Amino acid sequence: HHDAVTHARQPRIQVVAHRGASEEAPEHTLAAYKKAIEDGADALECDVRLTADGHLVCVHDRRVNRTSNGRGAVSALELADLAALDFGAWKTREGWRTRDEEPDWEYRPEDRGDTSVLTLERLLELVADAGRRVELAIETKHPTRWAGQVEERLLLLLKRFGLDAPATPAESPVRVMSFSARSLHRVRAASPTLPTVYLLQFLSPRLRDGRLPAGVGIAGPSIRIVRNHPTYIERLKRAGNQVHVWTVNEPEDVDLCVDLGIDAIITNRPRAVLRQLDR
Ligand code: G3P
Ligand code: CA
Repeated sequence: HHDAVTHARQPRIQVVAHRGASEEAPEHTLAAYKKAIEDGADALECDVRLTADGHLVCVHDRRVNRTSNGRGAVSALELADLAALDFGAWKTREGWRTRDEEPDWEYRPEDRGDTSVLTLERLLELVADAGRRVELAIETKHPTRWAGQVEERLLLLLKRFGLDAPATPAESPVRVMSFSARSLHRVRAASPTLPTVYLLQFLSPRLRDGRLPAGVGIAGPSIRIVRNHPTYIERLKRAGNQVHVWTVNEPEDVDLCVDLGIDAIITNRPRAVLRQLDR
């Protein structure tokens, strides 16, 4: 099977910073991604959404309410509206402040300039300037709503960085992840060598044989699936797939992933995980 060769497992487990070093810095901000690169993360994970005026921005939720000082759906706001918001004020040293608490500006004050909305373009620039290979795992969020526009914009942007058409999936520093098989299908139709990751929150019966949607070579199960169904993970690997697991923050779960031969750990705490792995 072709994918079994092209998606052969990496020599060592890859540590992927989930939304950046999001335990220590506000998720999806330049501050969080700079921290992840400093921490030595092998790759960065980000979620992307389209603004009303067609820009791809790194925001997890449909709305900006949780992670900024503004309100509203990303899809209803223009980039200029988002640029006026602060995406760092919600985070405190202890965790997330509630909306009626004062922002805790004592938290990494050096990051003050790095908490405005992050465009995918800016993140690609950061990765290009990292001075070492830093991979990027880009998750398309709710793409059916935009009927292909997210993928289309994504491919155009990757093309500008020379990242849209790798010679082989294994060489690609970028991969596209989604819970939507349709979104991944659109990406593969446009760029057959760009690696795609099928994210799984629960293990549905039709997936139990270890096969993924056609052409997808990487499974992205939740750590809950890994804990509850280790034999499923073995089946995925035997079928020639890579396995990338999210979100792995507990030391016992890191050990479990290593024992099962997982290819990538997606974590909010890249520094702690790298230390645990003696790296
Ligand atoms: O890396 C996959 C993981 O991020 C999927 O869940 O909700 O954190 O985007 P979510
Ligand atoms: Ca995500």
